[in-house]
Amino acid sequence: MSSMAYSTALDSSPPSGEAVYGRMASEGLDTSHGAILYLDDISVSFDGFKALNKLSLSIDVGELRCVIGPNGAGKTTMMDVITGKTRPDEGTAFFGQTIDLARLSEAQIAQAGIGRKFQKPTIFEQHTVFENLELAMKSDKRVRRTLFARLSSEARDRIAAMLERVGLAGAAERVAGLLSHGQKQWLEIGMLLMQEPRLLLLDEPVAGLSDDETERTAELFLTLAGKHSLVVVEHDMAFIARIARKVTVLHEGSVLAEGPHEQVQADARVIEVYLGR
Ligand SMILES: Nc1ncnc2c1ncn2[C@@H]1O[C@H](COP(=O)(O)OP(=O)(O)O)[C@@H](O)[C@H]1O
Ligand SMILES: [Mg+2]
Repeated sequence: MSSMAYSTALDSSPPSGEAVYGRMASEGLDTSHGAILYLDDISVSFDGFKALNKLSLSIDVGELRCVIGPNGAGKTTMMDVITGKTRPDEGTAFFGQTIDLARLSEAQIAQAGIGRKFQKPTIFEQHTVFENLELAMKSDKRVRRTLFARLSSEARDRIAAMLERVGLAGAAERVAGLLSHGQKQWLEIGMLLMQEPRLLLLDEPVAGLSDDETERTAELFLTLAGKHSLVVVEHDMAFIARIARKVTVLHEGSVLAEGPHEQVQADARVIEVYLGR
């Protein structure tokens, strides 16, 4: 690949223009109390309509949290608040004990170690799978000056390990635009992981995936939990059942129920919210 191709890819936004890649900056992250994220009494209004209404929740280090709730419950708005895309009217959001997310820009939040996967994959379609991971790794400002240098063997090993981890080892030299929808999703997750985020937010990661791709995504998430903290928003209840530990149900901008999956599933208020639609 020519250096021109690299600079084009890096200077322009990814296709959907929304990708934000987190990078681990764990130096400043204090998780001594066991939690990585605290939302406390967060409210967000759009023209008087409360998309979030005193939302409070916390996510433990290494947790895989599923967030469900009917359309319009505020799930995406919650992710917008965590990533700094939307600023709350009230309430506080902390990353670890000490990082007040209200004080950081979207880019700083990503740099602090919060990665977000949007619904549409935001990959560089014209580049190979390997090059996409390479670009994601090099978007780290500390290593950008070595952009045109040859990859170190350590860097190659990191990319190879990531290809293996996201199930794309056999597709390293494929042009990303030719991947299946599921493979594109895994590639984007791999790109996020190259930045070593501490907290990963995934909004409807299996929408549009085949059953087989959905199962492989479930397996991937289960291997990521523990090393990372994950917040997964999804409508696919079979997928939720496959990966769920603790589940939070949002309704009208606040927490309706929270607990182990079986408990939440049996909760009369939760059933009513789903059946009532
Ligand atoms: N930028 C916005 N402007 C106005 N209303 C919005 C905006 N974003 C979200 N909303 C409204 O806030 C509510 C919650 O939306 P959202 O967070 O996308 O819900 P979910 O992801 O749970 O389906 C919806 O009623 C939606 O129409
Ligand atoms: Mg949504």
